[in-house]
Amino acid sequence: MDQQRLDGIQACVFDAYGTLFDFNSAALAAGDELGDDAQRLSDLWRQKQLQYTWLRGLGGRHADFWQVTGEALDFALSTLKIDRPALRARLMDLYLHLATYPEVPETLRRLHAAGMKLAILSNGTPAMLAAVVGSNGLERVLDAVLSVEEVGVFKPHPAVYRLASERLQIAPATICFLSSNAWDAYSAKASGLRALWCNRFGQAPERIPETPDGEIKNLSELPELLFPPA
Ligand code: LAC
Repeated sequence: MDQQRLDGIQACVFDAYGTLFDFNSAALAAGDELGDDAQRLSDLWRQKQLQYTWLRGLGGRHADFWQVTGEALDFALSTLKIDRPALRARLMDLYLHLATYPEVPETLRRLHAAGMKLAILSNGTPAMLAAVVGSNGLERVLDAVLSVEEVGVFKPHPAVYRLASERLQIAPATICFLSSNAWDAYSAKASGLRALWCNRFGQAPERIPETPDGEIKNLSELPELLFPPA
């Protein structure tokens, strides 16, 4: 079934890592050193990074996403028995300059040109987000870059999703949140935003509370869902 149009949306709020920015691009850019381990390192790094955000949230022991990302990388490198401090430093630096997914710049430009408010809402620290937005030249099209550091707890705490409507000063139901991390899209919906799951990786639906308003394969489908046909 084709995705239904969403009416009354005034702002699109995007998850950062996995949705706009390709977290695999760091390990792949260090492929000259990682060789056949690049994809496995990337998978372990990402899985552990998310697990650590949830564990820190449940345990009430917040540390910022730069620290958590470094600790997850340490776990991944030690699992693969790689002990090279210069490579660790290189991978962390690459995380500040991740590539966008191919359709992202043009989609954001189209939405911005059509008058849609655009923002990022991410676990990333303000410095991490400023770096990756800047290195991709996206400052111009974004109205806000919101970090969980403002509330001191990671997604999916409801306080994070509340930030979007508080900071953009519009009603939650006029915000369309987009994430390729299914749990993130489901949790945004559960916190009162409208949400689309950008299912880039063809994953099965989650079994957690609430269901997003729909599912798209990549962000290029978004403008047609928000604007009436010309
Ligand atoms: C973020 C992670 C969840 O950007 O991808 O918040």
